[in-house]
Amino acid sequence: MMTEIGQDIERAVALLKAGELVAFPTETVYGLGADAMNPAAVAKIFAVKGRPADHPVIVHLPDATHLSRWARELPPEAALLAEKFWPGPLTLILKRHPDVPDLVTGGQDSVGLRVPNHPLALRLLKAFGSGIAAPSANKFGRISPTTAQHVKDDLGEAVPLILDGGPCEVGIESTIVDLTHRRAVILRPGRISADELGRVLGRNPLSPDDPLAPAELASTRASGMLAAHYAPKTPLALMPDDSLPIALRNALVRKERVAVLATHPAPFEMPGVIWREAPADPAGFAHELYANLRALDAMGVDRIYVQKPVGAKWLAVLDRLQRAAAGSGEV
Ligand code: TXA
Ligand code: MG
Repeated sequence: MMTEIGQDIERAVALLKAGELVAFPTETVYGLGADAMNPAAVAKIFAVKGRPADHPVIVHLPDATHLSRWARELPPEAALLAEKFWPGPLTLILKRHPDVPDLVTGGQDSVGLRVPNHPLALRLLKAFGSGIAAPSANKFGRISPTTAQHVKDDLGEAVPLILDGGPCEVGIESTIVDLTHRRAVILRPGRISADELGRVLGRNPLSPDDPLAPAELASTRASGMLAAHYAPKTPLALMPDDSLPIALRNALVRKERVAVLATHPAPFEMPGVIWREAPADPAGFAHELYANLRALDAMGVDRIYVQKPVGAKWLAVLDRLQRAAAGSGEV
């Protein structure tokens, strides 16, 4: 007898082969998947997300042996990073294979590839036997989903099947490393840090704003690089911890209803303020970040204040918070 999960996987594969969409869990966030070799199927991703057609999507692979079907050149760095970090929250940007549809690459000469580390995603990919194109399963620019319910809330009827793998472990999107230039460049920070990558590569990858970063990067289109992204509808402001009390007092004087996300309890009683405590370590904070932002966004407050994290270990979280602040309030 086939297990329920086995039946779900079978149905998911049938839908993907028929050119339909399937949402599935990964260790980072939920993805909205389509057969990456089928342009009509990939087009549905863009329609459902409301995503501009020139934004490339990541192709998820069952394992690293599939790389050569999607990338025409495999620099030694790619093999090293794949060996060390796959399956895992790392996306490699490589020169595209000519067979990869333009819609997947956003018309660029590169393609983003990753092997996700989630049992359900891996079962799906192995059963499908080819690449699944999948951006995060949310409306373009909004908060990424880390539970099946988040996907249902955002995209609902538009997706024929949502595989439920529970809450995502990492909670923020994969680290993206561009290997198409002379030096590796981190296009999007994530759980896997520059130092970890550097230990494998022999030297740390550059950040896009590094003076040594290749000039062509300016024309790279990665939506995760847009200033406004991952955003709630409620205006969100980042506040240094020691400025929070005064900011809250001022907001209350203005008769605003406010909510706070901080890594400690409220220092004193603040009537009228919704206080949400988040884990004080970067991995824990990231794991709950999008669920916290969604919950705070649903509270109908006038403003969300988030304690601004400090220190190099918070880089990926700070990146998401800054983009969330920049895009917030735009309904
Ligand atoms: O963790 C993740 O990466 C999740 C899960 C579902 O795997 N996916 C994800 O996809 O975050 P998305 O589409 O929301 O963000 C993918 C990022 C975008 O910023 C996109 O522009 C960039 O990857 N990207 C994809 N292909 C690229 C390419 N060829 N060159 C530059 N950036 C690329
Ligand atoms: Mg996204």
